[in-house]
Amino acid sequence: MKFLTLKDMDLENKRVLVRVDYNVPIKNGMVADDTRLKATIPTINFLLENHCKIILMSHLGRPKDLFKKGKSFEEAKKELTLRPVAEDLSELLGMDVGFADDCIGMELPDDKDVILLENLRLHKEEEKNDGEFAKKLASLGEVYVNDAFGASHRDHASVSAITRLLPSCAGFLVEKEVEELGKLLDPERPFVAIVAGAKADKIGALKVLAKKADKILIGGVLANTFLKAKGFDIGASKFDEETFAVAKEIIGIAGKKLVFPVDAVIADKFGNDAQTKIIKIDRIPKEWMSLDIGPETIGRYKAELKDAKTVLWAGPLGVFEMEQFSNGTRSIGEFLGSVNAAKIVGGGDTAAAIQSFDLADKVTHVSTGGGASLEFIEKEGRLPALVALEHYYNKSKE
Ligand code: 3PG
Repeated sequence: MKFLTLKDMDLENKRVLVRVDYNVPIKNGMVADDTRLKATIPTINFLLENHCKIILMSHLGRPKDLFKKGKSFEEAKKELTLRPVAEDLSELLGMDVGFADDCIGMELPDDKDVILLENLRLHKEEEKNDGEFAKKLASLGEVYVNDAFGASHRDHASVSAITRLLPSCAGFLVEKEVEELGKLLDPERPFVAIVAGAKADKIGALKVLAKKADKILIGGVLANTFLKAKGFDIGASKFDEETFAVAKEIIGIAGKKLVFPVDAVIADKFGNDAQTKIIKIDRIPKEWMSLDIGPETIGRYKAELKDAKTVLWAGPLGVFEMEQFSNGTRSIGEFLGSVNAAKIVGGGDTAAAIQSFDLADKVTHVSTGGGASLEFIEKEGRLPALVALEHYYNKSKE
């Protein structure tokens, strides 16, 4: 994909509108994980060096769910305000970051070099990719930068329509994500993918990986789902209906590339105080559930990973948040440190696991995008926001 980058732009003294993905967990009015904030610092610093006035814009959560429950604009704003993010960012940058009470229709403070706008999704036009809304946003700046990789799979006004209105480029974070995740599209081989986790969001990526990867190591709820589809009795283990419906189709495409657990850590209930056993995968008792891969599976998965030249890791292999079921995720993560390959971690839960076990130095790239990193694989890199940047690039060359 082709798009302009910061270094291609005339930025000196400009007002620059930067879309970031500051959709971060907020607990007790404070940012609980500022990885996504830190990831945008290189772009912000570069713009400051170019004497730009920086207007940051982001979404936070899904206000439309609150509107559906009958909450008003002000009520939704109270629950999903980006104000705590501006405070955290002030600390990270060592400067006072201004905060604008809304993202359109307000005056911006004159005395701040960096300003964060209130949550874009408080206006439903954002998710509708509305041209008029994009115009109001565009009126705040002279140049547009997309540094929101995590939101680039959305066809929304602040990442898509806006590129028709301002000179547009990618920020350093988006550039790096595309370069790193791009290694999965034309991979050095062997290419081994670990696909696991609890969510039903991997179907599209699995279909592509079924053709592209050399081996796909399955874990988590996804493993239960496939094993059930293959006729195993998975006891009380959780499985996902949506993936179950297409599991046979994926098995049909991927064939022997798919590698399944041969043993599991099972529990008599879902909790850290559960009774546990290690058991072969075809011996799970009725009332018990599989919550992690077992030691024999860990050994087999390490053997598959050892000579890989490209590794994608999407999804934790067990319930890593509970000590009793964290061994699979932790052992495979630690083992990756010894594998001489491009090792790309999809964001979301896997990034959280990497962080909680301090494994960042064992891999080459941890994506800031959850859904975006999976859709990047599924769409072979052509995410809507990147396509929008490519349109601007083509227009700029006319
Ligand atoms: C994410 O956290 O994956 C991104 O910020 C996108 O959020 P969304 O799934 O609500 O669009």
